[in-house]
Amino acid sequence: MPELTVSLGKRSYPIRIIDGLFNTAASLPIVGPCLVVSDDNVGPLYAERLKRAIGRNDCPLWQMPAGEPEKNLGRFTELLQAMAAQGLSRNSTVLALGGGVIGDLAGFAAACYMRGIAYIQIPTSLLAMIDSSVGGKTGVDLDAGKNLVGAFHQPQAVWIDTTVLATLPDREFRAGLAEVVKYGAIADAGFFGWLEQQADELLAKDPGTLAEAIAHCCRQKAGVVARDETEQGERALLNFGHTFGHALEVLGDYSTLVHGEAVAIGMHLAAAYSTHLGLASDADSLRLKRLLSRFGLPTGLPHRTDIDQLVTQMRLDKKAVSGNLRLILWHGIGQAFIADTIDAAQLRNFLSHASEQE
Ligand code: NAD
Ligand code: GLY
Repeated sequence: MPELTVSLGKRSYPIRIIDGLFNTAASLPIVGPCLVVSDDNVGPLYAERLKRAIGRNDCPLWQMPAGEPEKNLGRFTELLQAMAAQGLSRNSTVLALGGGVIGDLAGFAAACYMRGIAYIQIPTSLLAMIDSSVGGKTGVDLDAGKNLVGAFHQPQAVWIDTTVLATLPDREFRAGLAEVVKYGAIADAGFFGWLEQQADELLAKDPGTLAEAIAHCCRQKAGVVARDETEQGERALLNFGHTFGHALEVLGDYSTLVHGEAVAIGMHLAAAYSTHLGLASDADSLRLKRLLSRFGLPTGLPHRTDIDQLVTQMRLDKKAVSGNLRLILWHGIGQAFIADTIDAAQLRNFLSHASEQE
């Protein structure tokens, strides 16, 4: 299995994709005191195996309830207090064992504790393996908006054991596929075509096909992060569909749609809006919709979405600049771009029309 690198000078780090990593005894050296951070789905399944693999039975586990509503300041504070109670110091390492919620929260706690300590991402959901664990974006949600509090803090390493996907619930697996599709949609038409061809193998969790897809996405993300760590330009393309998606997540109190589902709807809306503006062909938007649907993902606005609330929430997204809406749109598959001057009234009309069609 491949080892990739996120090249950031002295802060460069490896992404190891290993089938059965958690069974590899003592191959993952951790220096200094450590803390495993997980949730109550993943912790009971994998924390002991991880501790055995790193030969660190002394490493305590801090666990919280699973789910996006838990990615909040309250849990963040609890985690920091647990880190202090466990006597973590500047040479300690946090092991973030879980999906994107745990990775973002534990990474943010590591970024803030003693002004920044080391952490390692050990993603267990497909979404976390191919996106959130790589690139150092950490943070928590507020009621007012998604990921509104956070920091850039790169991990020391990303360890991916693809065998843990066997226990990932089907809905979460499909949600991860949404972010896989995103890589093709924004900048890699060849990969998009490959996904269309390999859809059945991916849905069947064929190990070879999955590993290839994960490595491809990690390679693409590592490249983007190396070129634009703090999202001054190109990295923003990774937010394709996210301004729509984040707003839908907030409107659903972070509990109606899971993140990948909201992104799937958002990507299709971004594509359809690009067509509406005459920037892209309808054929590409349909191709995207077809692939997302094949992966069992939603593409239409949830029933009874309040369009005014949706647009208001989109304007609060942290990607908006001085209150102006900023969206990632596309000219077609593999050709996303940043659109800075979005007319809110025009967008509102488009969304009203889109909701009537649902
Ligand atoms: P998640 O962390 O809530 O995990 C999804 C669910 O699957 C949870 O219930 C979890 O307990 C369970 N789970 C995870 N791995 C499992 C396994 N192997 N076996 C059994 N159950 C398992 O959600 P997610 O989809 O992984 O991540 C979404 C989060 O990631 C969002 O908060 C999003 O904002 C964030 N995100 C961050 C970045 C970034 O760059 N930092 C990028 C994309 C998404
Ligand atoms: N939104 C994903 C990233 O920039 O890392």
